[in-house]
Amino acid sequence: MCGIVGYVGNKDAYPILIKGLHRLEYRGYDSAGVALINPVGKLNVYKTKGKVAELEHFVTNKDVSGTIGIAHTRWATHGEPSDVNAHPHYSENGQIALIHNGIIENYGVLKTMLMGKGYTFRSDTDTEVLVQFIDYLRNENQCTLFEAVQAALNQVIGAYAIAVLDKDNNNEIIAARKSSPLVIGIGDGEYFLASDATPIVEYVQNVVYLNDGEIAVINRNKPLKIVNLDNIESKIDIRKLEMNISELEKGGYPHFMLKEIFEQPRTITDCIRGRINLEGTEVILSGILDNKDRFLNARRIIFVACGTSWHAGLIGEYLFEDFCGIEVKVEYASEFRYRNPVIHNDDIVIAISQSGETADTLAAIELAKSKGAFVYGICNVVGSSIARATHSGTYIHVGPEIGVASTKAFTGQVTVLVMMAMMIARLKGRIDDAKYREVLKGLLVMPEKIKEALAQHEHIKDVSAIFTYAHNFLYLGRGCNYPTAMEGALKLKEISYIHAEGYPAAEMKHGPIALIDNEMPTIVIATNVSIYEKTISNIQEIKSRGGKVIAVVTTGDSVVSKMADHCIWVPETTECLTPLLSSIPLQLFAYYIAVNKGRDVDQPRNLAKSVTVE
Ligand code: F6R
Repeated sequence: MCGIVGYVGNKDAYPILIKGLHRLEYRGYDSAGVALINPVGKLNVYKTKGKVAELEHFVTNKDVSGTIGIAHTRWATHGEPSDVNAHPHYSENGQIALIHNGIIENYGVLKTMLMGKGYTFRSDTDTEVLVQFIDYLRNENQCTLFEAVQAALNQVIGAYAIAVLDKDNNNEIIAARKSSPLVIGIGDGEYFLASDATPIVEYVQNVVYLNDGEIAVINRNKPLKIVNLDNIESKIDIRKLEMNISELEKGGYPHFMLKEIFEQPRTITDCIRGRINLEGTEVILSGILDNKDRFLNARRIIFVACGTSWHAGLIGEYLFEDFCGIEVKVEYASEFRYRNPVIHNDDIVIAISQSGETADTLAAIELAKSKGAFVYGICNVVGSSIARATHSGTYIHVGPEIGVASTKAFTGQVTVLVMMAMMIARLKGRIDDAKYREVLKGLLVMPEKIKEALAQHEHIKDVSAIFTYAHNFLYLGRGCNYPTAMEGALKLKEISYIHAEGYPAAEMKHGPIALIDNEMPTIVIATNVSIYEKTISNIQEIKSRGGKVIAVVTTGDSVVSKMADHCIWVPETTECLTPLLSSIPLQLFAYYIAVNKGRDVDQPRNLAKSVTVE
């Protein structure tokens, strides 16, 4: 969702804030703004609808001096994207400025109360209500900004990460979080603040992640102080950032998405490094080892996730049922959290999340914990809220994913799920040596095979050019490639805005086949060995109704290639690993179609990378 950056120290704040906003733009990009206190104590607030580049243009020739400031890039929740609804918001008297990521649910009641006290409002946002409420409490209680923020947050219902400035105190930023992430970078006489570590990593390595219900007093002349809403001081837990600055650049690619697609040989290597031995005879994940008995005795595994991560969970269902003999459920976190799901204390809930910040997934974790379940996390972002809220877990270690459409995180998640399934199956004595080694060796050579799949990019680009103007697509797969088909369809929808449906191929005849004509192309994944013949029948059904077929097939396939209109080849691998290869051409296909259509690939309309509101 929205991105927050803050700086207080001895350097000019503006360049640091703008660079930080660019790094965070993937979180939201419908408006942007900055607030700075200049050397003579004037609070300057500049904000505008549009992307960060438009903000930069807007502030040309304006006073951007000052060594303290806060900045924001927005993904609208309350109030349309507009100049006036952009953050920072400031109190009517111009004393306090505030940026916010999240939703204040009781803003209506607070606004009515404040209007009764004579406050007027410029915007439609919940955030303006919060800043005015803080201002009101400060005047009413004659207290410090910190005390007013603490008092306000004790009365606020909702989710927030906020940063607040007081025009009369150019040394201090007050920051607080509840259900929305915030990280503080600690430098020498300077502090950085951000929604995630990407704007901070080029300046400092030492960071502190705020916990829910904590308020930080960030003063350039004092050590960092963190207290909770009940005024109990927290221990400062300094962590070291592992991120590398070059991971945050496009590295010569036109888009982050393309860079991330092409990174997959390396990200899979990073994901399996130190987990599978070089001979491919053993996989060890410490999270499983530490909780061996729980996994051995698990009654069920329940995956909770959203979007692409949910698709990875569906592949997990095939893996864990087939290899481990454990009953599996796969739940949309947003549905799970609002049901009253039956959870036994010997169930394991596995939360999958690239960002580790998805609000619905976090809420599902809390619900599962409250019902006594053991919760395991599969996350990418180290130190993220989900990584910290779960009892144990495995990181996918694919590096920062900046493109809004998830690519390398999906293959990282599937890789971790395969390793988990192999390890548990082995511990349960349910897999023979030959199969176990075949899968592990398959993973070891996967980076090379992904390179081969990527080498088809020119061909995929040519095929995409033929279909750029189709209005609808059907994606079909069977077995573990049915979720891959859904993932391919999601990629196309997100970045090209073309309607696409992912379906289990055999379900065609129960309805979707009625859609088939020569204007409805179908992408069929035909790489599964066990149900290859069945998939061939499905292709025939489409062809005999005049449909166009683009088939993803295994290198050397001579049957489907005669039937399909276009084929895209991927190398052979063991069946349970085929999603790692068949997903690659689908990512590239969606990418090239979106580029052909002139779409904003990395920042598609209406989307944000990290969905921290429900
Ligand atoms: C799709 C995509 C989204 C995310 C979903 C969950 O390309 O990026 O569907 O997968 O919002 O996000 P995480 O995995 O961060 O919980």
